[in-house]
Amino acid sequence: MTSLTGPGLTLPEGFLMGASTSAHQVEGNNVSSDWWAIENRPGTFVAERSGDAADSFHRWPEDMDLLAGLGFNAYRFGIEWARVEPERGQVSRAAVAHYRAMVRGALERGLTPVVTLHHFTSPRWFSALGGWASPGSADLFASYARVATEILLPGVRHVATINEPNMIALMHSLIRGAGLAADGATAPADGERPGVTLDPGSVEPDATVEQALIRAHRAATAVLKAADPTLQVGWTVANQAYQAEPGAAEAMAAYARPREDVYLEAARQDDWIGVQAYTRHRIGADGPLPVPEGAPTTLTGWEVYPEALGEAVRHTADVVGPGVPVLVTENGIATADDEQRITYTTAALASLASALRDGVDVRGYLHWSALDNYEWGSYRPTFGLIAVDAETFARTPKRSAAWLGALARAGRIPDVPGPGDPDGRPAAGAARVRAAG
Ligand code: BGC
Repeated sequence: MTSLTGPGLTLPEGFLMGASTSAHQVEGNNVSSDWWAIENRPGTFVAERSGDAADSFHRWPEDMDLLAGLGFNAYRFGIEWARVEPERGQVSRAAVAHYRAMVRGALERGLTPVVTLHHFTSPRWFSALGGWASPGSADLFASYARVATEILLPGVRHVATINEPNMIALMHSLIRGAGLAADGATAPADGERPGVTLDPGSVEPDATVEQALIRAHRAATAVLKAADPTLQVGWTVANQAYQAEPGAAEAMAAYARPREDVYLEAARQDDWIGVQAYTRHRIGADGPLPVPEGAPTTLTGWEVYPEALGEAVRHTADVVGPGVPVLVTENGIATADDEQRITYTTAALASLASALRDGVDVRGYLHWSALDNYEWGSYRPTFGLIAVDAETFARTPKRSAAWLGALARAGRIPDVPGPGDPDGRPAAGAARVRAAG
C-alpha cells in the first residue's frame, strides 16, 4: 500500500504525522459564535450555513478511532471559545469537560493532540465588543487561555493560540467591507447588498487587528507557560509561497510583509511555528497576479502547486530563524478526485522531504483535513481524507487516508533528489534526518 515515488525519506523519531480539523468546521451548531450569526443572517456573503457540520461534537470518538486506526500518531483539533465562554465571564463547565474528554481520548488512542484555541470563530459577545480591534481584546483572550489550561493540562504538549492571524486581519477588512459587524448584527437586510466580492487580494489587512493579535498571542502564551512551562506554544500562519516575477522582488517583499512575514517575525520567541501551505502566489511589480492561464486549479480556485509546502517551510524557517522548529499544521487540496489528492500530497511531501534533507527542523505534518467539512461558506470544496455523509454523518475513509496512514505507520515520506545527489538516491546513511528533540 505504501507507494513512494522515490526511495523515500525516513522521518525523525517523534515526528508527528496526522491530520487537522477546526472546531467550527466539524462540530456543528456552534450557536454562540460570530460566524454562526453571520451565516444565519440573510443576505451576507456566506452561501451555505454550517448547520450540523460533520457532527464531530458528538462523533469525535469515532473520528479519533479512525485516525488512530489508519496509522496516524497525531490529531490537531480546535477547542471553541464560544462554547467555553458563551457569555462574557461565564465559563461552561460542560464545555470544559467535553474538551478535556477529547484530550484524554486522543492520548488514550496514541494520538498526540495539537490543540488550537482560536480558529477564525469568536464568541458573539467578543465580536459585539468590536472583536480583535477593541481595546482589551488581548486580555479577554488571555482569560480564555487561562480556562483552556484546565482542558490542556495535564497531557497536551502542543498548543496553537491563534490560527492564521494573517487571515483574520484580512477577514476583518473583508467583513467590514461587506458592511457587516464582526458578529453579523448590523448587516443590512437581505437584498440590500448584492454581489459583494470577497477577494482577499482586493483589501489591505487591518493593522490595528494585526497588532492586537500579536498582543493576544503573547498574553495567551504567558498564561499558558505560567500554568506549565513545558507546554509548547506557537501559532499557525497561512503561508502564501509568494514568488516574485522578474524585477518585482521589492514589490513582493512589501506585499508579503503585512500579509505573512510580520506574523512569522512575531514567532521568534515561540516554541514552534505552524506552516499552512496550499498554493503559491505570484507577485508582479503592480501586485498579485492571477493564476497562470491554463494552470490546473482546485475546487477553491487555487492553482494546483504542491511545491508550495517546501517553499513555505523554507521561507518560514528563514524568517523565524534558528531554534524555532516548524510543524506543518495544514496542507491539502480541495478536490472531488481522491487520486488527485494522493498525487498532490505525494509532491507536497516530496518538497517537504527536500527541506528536511537540507536541515530544516520540521517536527510534524498534519494534513488538512481529516474530514470533509464546512469550508467557510460552502461544503463543496472537499479537503478530507475521510468523507462524511451530510445526512447520516457516516464516515468513509478515502483511499488517500489509507495511503497517508500507511506512510505515517512506516515513518517515511516520498523523497526528491537532494543537492549534490544527482541520481536522486538518498546519500548513504542519510536516510534519517536530524532527530526531533
Ligand atoms: C484554514 C482552514 C481552511 C483551509 C482551506 C486554512 O486557511 O485554517 O480553516 O479550511 O485553509 O481553505
